[in-house]
Amino acid sequence: MEDLYRQHILDHYQNPRNYGEIEDPDVSREEYNPLCGDRLILELKYDGDHVVEAKFHGEGCAISQASASMLTEFVEGKSVEEVKALTKDDILDMLGIPIGPVRMKCALLSLQAVKAGVYGVSEWELEEEEEL
Ligand code: FES
Repeated sequence: MEDLYRQHILDHYQNPRNYGEIEDPDVSREEYNPLCGDRLILELKYDGDHVVEAKFHGEGCAISQASASMLTEFVEGKSVEEVKALTKDDILDMLGIPIGPVRMKCALLSLQAVKAGVYGVSEWELEEEEEL
């Protein structure tokens, strides 16, 4: 079963969905992982209170790129409230394999970007109970 999830992650890494930039995005948020130097820029476009487009670019490991790819697919069509309600567990469920402490920052980089973006604050951090 885990093999299936690993293949799924590899597929998203090799064929990232929603990779690129949005022209005139409503939200653009850059996250940086100082531990490894990876960088992720995540952009959202709204129609009213719904996300109609989500894209990302940047560079990172398979886990960070796959989670960004999966997350952008997931948030398209969702309301801002639904996006705000996303948790660390939602991302880990999407990835579907056990993520150790070293990789946790990679796995959550895109969630950090999405949540900081929809909350519209510059220094939004994962809530205390979600911290690593
Ligand atoms: Fe850098 Fe994963 S090793 S984001």
